[in-house]
Amino acid sequence: MDRLVSFDSDSPQATAQFARAFAAVLRGGDIVSLEGDLGTGKTFFTAAIALALGVTVPVSSPTFTLQKIYETQTGAIRRIIHYDFYRIAQAGELAEIGFEAPEPDTVAIAEWGDRFPQVCGEKALRVCLEYSGVHGRHIRITIPNSRPLPQFNPNDITESQNNGDS
Ligand SMILES: Nc1ncnc2c1ncn2[C@@H]1O[C@H](COP(=O)(O)OP(=O)(O)OP(=O)(O)O)[C@@H](O)[C@H]1O
Ligand SMILES: [Mg+2]
Repeated sequence: MDRLVSFDSDSPQATAQFARAFAAVLRGGDIVSLEGDLGTGKTFFTAAIALALGVTVPVSSPTFTLQKIYETQTGAIRRIIHYDFYRIAQAGELAEIGFEAPEPDTVAIAEWGDRFPQVCGEKALRVCLEYSGVHGRHIRITIPNSRPLPQFNPNDITESQNNGDS
């Protein structure tokens, strides 16, 4: 069982702040599944997490390379591996692009993680992005009950029990 935290972002800056609060609850070994239509901000959200975790180089889309590795400069999480599953047709290809369960000092972030529930299923922390206007995004994240909730202005977020099908 986990909790669903929802946030209505009205700007990239607000999304980045929310991503920073989310990054603070991540631990080594986590898989983050980023879900949402083209252009909703999956790469943008990843870049904000990476910045918060101490990556000092710019994060860009791994669409063509399918995976990119970033070293962090601070903290217990030493490495972020950023994947994009958009062009992956079958689960068998995941091993070919080097996807594996992250080491205890590494966080794996997969755009389009919902395409492969076998690797981004129950274990993953899910971030779902939806358009709500040109600069608006409705963001929902699942946080396991064993974790603290992101420290974010409580007036801005809605928390509920996740019934599992959202
Ligand atoms: N409220 C918002 N939150 C996040 N991004 C926003 C918001 N408003 C506008 N944007 C813009 O939306 C764009 C999202 O692009 P991004 O490449 O991150 O999307 P994506 O989901 O990774 O796309 P793709 O499916 O092609 O991988 C960015 O240019 C970002 O600045
Ligand atoms: Mg992207």
